[in-house]
Amino acid sequence: MDKALRCLGVTKVFYEHESGGGALGFIRGLMGGVKKQVVALQDISFEVSAGEIFGVLGPNGSGKSTLIRIIATLLIPDAGEVYVFGHNVQTERLLVRRLINRVSVDAAFFKKLSALENLSYAARLYGVQGSTARARMRETLRRLGLAEEKLTVPLEDLSRGMQQKVAVARALLTEPALLLLDEPTTGLDPKSKREVQEFVLEVREKRGTTVVLTSHDMQEVDRLCDRVAILDRGRIVALDTPRGLKEKFGRPEGTLEDVFFALTGKDWEEDR
Ligand SMILES: Nc1ncnc2c1ncn2[C@@H]1O[C@H](COP(=O)(O)OP(=O)(O)O)[C@@H](O)[C@H]1O
Ligand SMILES: [Mg+2]
Repeated sequence: MDKALRCLGVTKVFYEHESGGGALGFIRGLMGGVKKQVVALQDISFEVSAGEIFGVLGPNGSGKSTLIRIIATLLIPDAGEVYVFGHNVQTERLLVRRLINRVSVDAAFFKKLSALENLSYAARLYGVQGSTARARMRETLRRLGLAEEKLTVPLEDLSRGMQQKVAVARALLTEPALLLLDEPTTGLDPKSKREVQEFVLEVREKRGTTVVLTSHDMQEVDRLCDRVAILDRGRIVALDTPRGLKEKFGRPEGTLEDVFFALTGKDWEEDR
């Protein structure tokens, strides 16, 4: 059986103009202005088994979103290869897109439309219309703790927590084999956070969905993930089960914060 995900030596470098972004920066760049290199990912290799919940834990700017976007076929790596259920993300892009779905921190919606309208639109786009899709949609939203009366309210009038739940429900419309969750609970209130976390566990349990989840919440990763890769400035500094990491780098009864400190000599908070 093919692995759900294989990343082999993935490297991604961004170029930023010293003169700043925008049109002017671009023109200066063409004229040979100085470019600053940002190595967002450096030689990242790991494998994820089918049905696993795999965590990518790292402070802001450590490369989490870049990694997710490469797996999601939205960015091309400068080096290395990525396979989703045996399919190359660069040469079999359309096939890979049918196997995955992604929830990003700032999901894009039609804000004037309701949750149901947004999901119906997405369903049409994905080609999963019909009464089964509609039933699945309502069930997912209900399971996520979104009250029935909220389903027809314009999204701009819902809290961020609720909007994020709609984003998760939308990603599940296509029943992806690999679900990519980029900081799915960042900025959510504790209750919404809990509900989204419970739901992730339930989806894996019921559908066997493989999940790759990024986070800077140590407790979340500890709670949800079978294995964790800790990213620091574009490199994997450790990869193991949460328990294995704590035993190896901290104290078995300690926290992942202890592990991060042991690995980088930095406090988690000061790095963010
Ligand atoms: N489109 C881009 N252009 C230039 N630099 C980028 C771009 N996207 C990300 N970066 C840089 O790459 C690094 C990793 O970013 P990112 O993957 O967004 O980290 P994270 O999601 O962990 O916060 C950061 O230094 C960021 O500034
Ligand atoms: Mg990010």
